[in-house]
Amino acid sequence: MSTPRKIVLVTGATGKQGGALIQGLLSAPDTAGLNILAVTRDASSPRALELGTNFNVAIVQGDMTQPEAMFEKFGPIWGVYSVQINSDAEEQQGKAMVDAAVAHGVQHFVYSSGDRGGPEKSPVNPTKVKNFAAKYRVEKHLEEKAAASPQNMTYTILRPVTFFENLTTDIHGKGFARMWEQMGAKKLQFVSTRDIGRIAADSFMHPNNYRNIALTLAGDELTQPEADVMFRAAVGFPMPMAPCPMASTVKFFLKGTVGDMFRWFELEGYGGDVAVCHKLYPGMKDFQAWIDENKGKWLSI
Ligand SMILES: NC(=O)c1ccc[n+]([C@@H]2O[C@H](COP(=O)([O-])OP(=O)(O)OC[C@H]3O[C@@H](n4cnc5c(N)ncnc54)[C@H](OP(=O)(O)O)[C@@H]3O)[C@@H](O)[C@H]2O)c1
Repeated sequence: MSTPRKIVLVTGATGKQGGALIQGLLSAPDTAGLNILAVTRDASSPRALELGTNFNVAIVQGDMTQPEAMFEKFGPIWGVYSVQINSDAEEQQGKAMVDAAVAHGVQHFVYSSGDRGGPEKSPVNPTKVKNFAAKYRVEKHLEEKAAASPQNMTYTILRPVTFFENLTTDIHGKGFARMWEQMGAKKLQFVSTRDIGRIAADSFMHPNNYRNIALTLAGDELTQPEADVMFRAAVGFPMPMAPCPMASTVKFFLKGTVGDMFRWFELEGYGGDVAVCHKLYPGMKDFQAWIDENKGKWLSI
């Protein structure tokens, strides 16, 4: 008799990290023996329909405002990938996903958090950045609830640094590039969401290797002018940036979020070990590799 396939519930499936996790699992032979439930609030949206699926990947409708309903609807779930968007509900949704997973016998829980100064500082440093602090509190909740869970649920906390994918061709990307440039000589750490997804996929394939650990994921560390040299060589023109006053105004008016975050980047900053990450995860992208792969977006403007 064949062993029943393990079911993994992937939240944020139409988003950057969840989508990358699904691509990571789809590229494993036979999706590594896992059945994937790709959660979206709207299974008929263009982004949901774009998701690559096969016999082992199903797009399902669910909402993190009601995680209990998801678990009741989808039946026994072995693994959960949990990611929330930045909002006032982030902490509540993140904790509720943990509670529902514990209550429904989940065995392995992967939480996508964010780095707060490296492996030593992150567990004790909520920071003053609102969405960083929400993640800190969700992490603590996860550790506590997993340890007390009847099923001895294991967990992996992924702590990515800034995504290269923030560099989009639209005004958001240009604004981000300018705020990075305004950091001057202070370097910023980056990671590709594809690498986050690849490592998340590996944690579901080899949960024992990722048992109850937290990983800071960083693929490069550089200033905007350093990146601009590579950008110009790859694309043929300078990295497009929003005007200085516009970026400064956004940081001022969004003080509690974007403003605090860039202030934290300047005064404290991420603490990933880029060299160790490249050693642990061969093929991890640095800026050069990322821009070589993504330059087409700017070349087609
Ligand atoms: N950007 C960075 O540099 C960076 C760095 C470190 C950490 N982070 C963290 O990454 C997180 C965002 O991840 P991401 O960029 O991968 O997300 P994303 O691309 O914005 O996608 C998030 C997905 O979540 C789904 N979603 C939103 N609300 C939902 C709800 N109530 N119920 C079910 N699904 C819901 C949406 O899917 P549907 O619309 O299809 O339902 C959406 O596609 C944030 O917490 C952020 O702080 C970001």
